[in-house]
Order: sequence, then structure tokens, then C-alpha cells
Amino acid sequence: MDEQFSVRQIAKSYAGVQALQDVTIDFASGLTAIVGDNGAGKSTLMKILSGVEHPDRGTIVHNGQSVTIDNPVIARKLGIESLYQDLALADTLNVIENMFLGREIVTRRFGIPVLDERAMAQAAGDTLARVRIGLPHPKTPVRYLSGGQRQAVALARALYFKAQVLLLDEPTAALGPKETSAFTSVIKELVDSGTRVVMVTHNIPQVIEMADSIVVMRAGRIVARVAPQDTSEQQLLAFMVGSQETIEEASPQWIKTHQ
Ligand SMILES: Nc1ncnc2c1ncn2[C@@H]1O[C@H](COP(=O)(O)OP(=O)(O)OP(=O)(O)O)[C@@H](O)[C@H]1O
Ligand SMILES: [Mg+2]
Repeated sequence: MDEQFSVRQIAKSYAGVQALQDVTIDFASGLTAIVGDNGAGKSTLMKILSGVEHPDRGTIVHNGQSVTIDNPVIARKLGIESLYQDLALADTLNVIENMFLGREIVTRRFGIPVLDERAMAQAAGDTLARVRIGLPHPKTPVRYLSGGQRQAVALARALYFKAQVLLLDEPTAALGPKETSAFTSVIKELVDSGTRVVMVTHNIPQVIEMADSIVVMRAGRIVARVAPQDTSEQQLLAFMVGSQETIEEASPQWIKTHQ
């Protein structure tokens, strides 16, 4: 297990609710799925990793260094892209502007740096075509986009900038079957090109099919980490609701990797 991307002893509480306690995970390469019941703390963890929320305690390690992720722009500069339903895009900016926000392509005209609108439009068009989710004209302000289309813009951004880490919070919840299948193949493409993907989802069959590693959360804690080939839907559900109490019982692998 390397230390490329990990969290150590993260805690977070909101006015009386302990959303996360002592959360320690090494995100291995490939796709890590995070599952857990409603309120388990999954989205809170993703928000902390994407700079939307800040932990009360604990450390985030990225590329072997401890990092502070103050906001989503800093996260993106670190190579950490995120994608979720109520995704924060700049609503008044168009699709192309959102894709390149903070990382615009610049050219020089008479020695003066200017935005290279043509290069950005071309790159946006090419990348969005790979995502294969129907979008209106790329000059449309993103406030007119549907939830799924907003996600397509964020996914294109991750593809274009070759994200080191991609955080997904229930990415297919808003998508139809055709879009889900297009989306899934882009995720696989990203994983194959070396992006570490962390995906929160309630779709257990999809987790077992796609994930390289599965982390189960319950009431703000990590309760199990298993490989898909060593578990079943029943066992994951048992971890999620607490009928399978201890991590030692069902997952010797967890103990091995965390001693
Ligand atoms: N901004 C907030 N203010 C107060 N409490 C919050 C806030 N955000 C999350 N919580 C609480 O923290 C806990 C964890 O919430 P979180 O959204 O992380 O759960 P989740 O695992 O993503 O659940 P779901 O599967 O329903 O999306 C819940 O008890 C929730 O009510
Ligand atoms: Mg959530």
C-alpha cells in the first residue's frame, strides 16, 4: 500500500452530529468504492477531500505530502477533481469557461498573453464528445444544464486535465441507462490511464462489478475494507447496517493492510 493518496484520523462534526470519526484510508490505485447507509458520512468525506468542507482533525496525504485543501480550486490545482449532483460549477459561465476555469489556455498576440478561445473551444468539443452525454451548445451558461449534463462537464474537465484523483459522489444517480453506460466507460478509461477514482454509490451490484477495493462506512467510521472478489452483496449490506459487527470477523485483509 503506497501513500500516494490517503487520509489519517479525519474527524468532522456539525452542531452535535459526529459526521466522521477516526477515518483512515489509503486509496489504492484503481477504483475505490465507498458504500454505507444514509448519513454514514460518505459525502462529508468527499467534501473534505474536494475542499468544500474542512476537517476538525486529521491529515490528508497527496503525492506523499500532507496537504491542506482550502477550497475546490486548490483541490483541482493538486489534481483532485470532483463530481457530484449538486456540483459547484460557475453558473453564469458557459460550458467551455467552466472546463478551463483557473487553467485557461493562453496564447500570445504581439507578445501579449491572451485567452486562446479557439483552442479551448476545440479541446472542449473533443473532450465532451468522448464523454458522450448529450449537451447543448458549449457556449450555453451552465445554469441551464441538467444535473447529468453538469456532471458531464466536470467529467470532461477531469479527462482533459488528466486528474490524479477523481472523487465521485453518486455519479449515476441522475443519469439514464444510456448515459450511465457511457459514463461508466469513461470512468474505466480514466482508471486505466492511472487516475485514482473514489466513488460513493448505493449501487452495490455496480460496486462489486467495477471496484478494485470497497470501503464500508457506518455512523462516521470505516467498518470494513474488502476486495470485491472476497465479498458479496449480503456481506456488504451486513457491514452497512451493523449486523456484521467487527472488521476482524469478515475481513482479515483489512487487518493485514492496516497494522
Ligand atoms: N452541513 C451539515 N450540517 C449539519 N449536519 C450535517 C451537514 N452535512 C452532513 N451532516 C450530517 O452528517 C452526517 C453524515 O452526512 P453525509 O451527508 O456525509 O452522509 P452520507 O453518507 O453521504 O449519506 P447519503 O447516503 O444519504 O448521501 C449526517 O448525520 C448528516 O445529517
Ligand atoms: Mg451523501
